Amino acid sequence: MIGRLNHVAIAVRDIAKASEVYRKTLGAEVSAAVPQPTHGVTTVFINLPNTKIELLEPLGEASPILKFLEKNTDGGIHHVCYEVDDILAARDRLKAQGARVLGDGEPKTGAHGKPVLFLHPKDFCGTLVELEQA
Ligand code: CO
Repeated sequence: MIGRLNHVAIAVRDIAKASEVYRKTLGAEVSAAVPQPTHGVTTVFINLPNTKIELLEPLGEASPILKFLEKNTDGGIHHVCYEVDDILAARDRLKAQGARVLGDGEPKTGAHGKPVLFLHPKDFCGTLVELEQA
């Protein structure tokens, strides 16, 4: 059911510093930082030949990644995003197998402008999983 790895998201405290690590030390192509107030994060995208890395820095008091950074003070891998052809069919199949879909279970528009859903880490080997309509 799942297709390509769309991105790996890494939560960071300082996105400027993290961008420099990827640009300078790792020699990657790094986008400008984009504040995404509706998602409570500032994002930087790093394009690799076969996938993307998404750096996330908290934006605002209600940022969904604040708790994660309290537990992971150096930052860390926050979620992985897999592409699916049909997000509603994928959701229904997962729910039928007992997997928990976060929020109200309805796809939301993600940081790339496509419908996304998040799945409970406890059902997926301790990793928060994002599904994105391909
Ligand atoms: Co993501």
